[in-house]
Amino acid sequence: MKRVTVPEIRGRYASAEKITMLTAYDSLMAAILDASPVDILLVGDSLGTVICGEETTLSVTLEQMIYHTRLVSRATRRALVVADMPFLSYQASVEEAVRSAGRLLKEGGAQAVKLEGGEEMEAQVRAIVRAGIPVMGHLGLTPQSVHAMGGYKVQGKSQAEEEAILRSAKALEEVGVFSIVLEGVPGRVAERVGAAVAVPTIGIGAGLKCNGQVLVAQDMLGFSAPGREKTPRFVRRYASLTEEIIRAVEAYVTDVRSGNFPGDKETYS
Ligand code: KIV
Repeated sequence: MKRVTVPEIRGRYASAEKITMLTAYDSLMAAILDASPVDILLVGDSLGTVICGEETTLSVTLEQMIYHTRLVSRATRRALVVADMPFLSYQASVEEAVRSAGRLLKEGGAQAVKLEGGEEMEAQVRAIVRAGIPVMGHLGLTPQSVHAMGGYKVQGKSQAEEEAILRSAKALEEVGVFSIVLEGVPGRVAERVGAAVAVPTIGIGAGLKCNGQVLVAQDMLGFSAPGREKTPRFVRRYASLTEEIIRAVEAYVTDVRSGNFPGDKETYS
């Protein structure tokens, strides 16, 4: 089976085909998603909140990202694997950015990396791309800047913010990103960005005018810790896995307690 490539993602954009992306953090889920037609698996640093139960993504380390990227790339043969660069693995210097990105490919087995930021990350993106590593940008609501934003708030609502996002998108295009995630921006901002750059935009909470969409797989599958199932407005739930698991486990407990499991079928003779 042939893996989706970065040039193929560019090709899909050129032929106006929508691009699909979901997150994956472990081998089991990655193998299941790889059996679907989804184009890209993002080993997101949302690992911190979705899997590790943290309030933010800030504590996620490069070592954790390499480990989880390896789990995902090992289990997949078809989807393009993009690894998120975690907080402080690329901001401090260009050299550190190149080394961190390189490790996500070399040790993690990813085919590309994603990093947050626009104009201010131009030098880092340019250097990583020059090292032969495809880069996906990420603009708008950038969770690693949660404290600077004063919370997880929609970005680009004011004219000044809208113009800044537009400038950043052009800067990222100029230094060679192969796509840009637009997170938490009004639909009109996403539309303007899409019209201003010739690289695909992949939206999350950015409306229909993007060239593709990304969601956290657990969100769209309804798979979350009970009590923490608050679904953001932009998520559509396609399954209710949490409820399904609880139902199955209730049935198992009932069967064990009543002596209905194991039966003859599940017992060696
Ligand atoms: O970390 C992540 O999962 C992401 C997506 C939500 C775009 O950055």
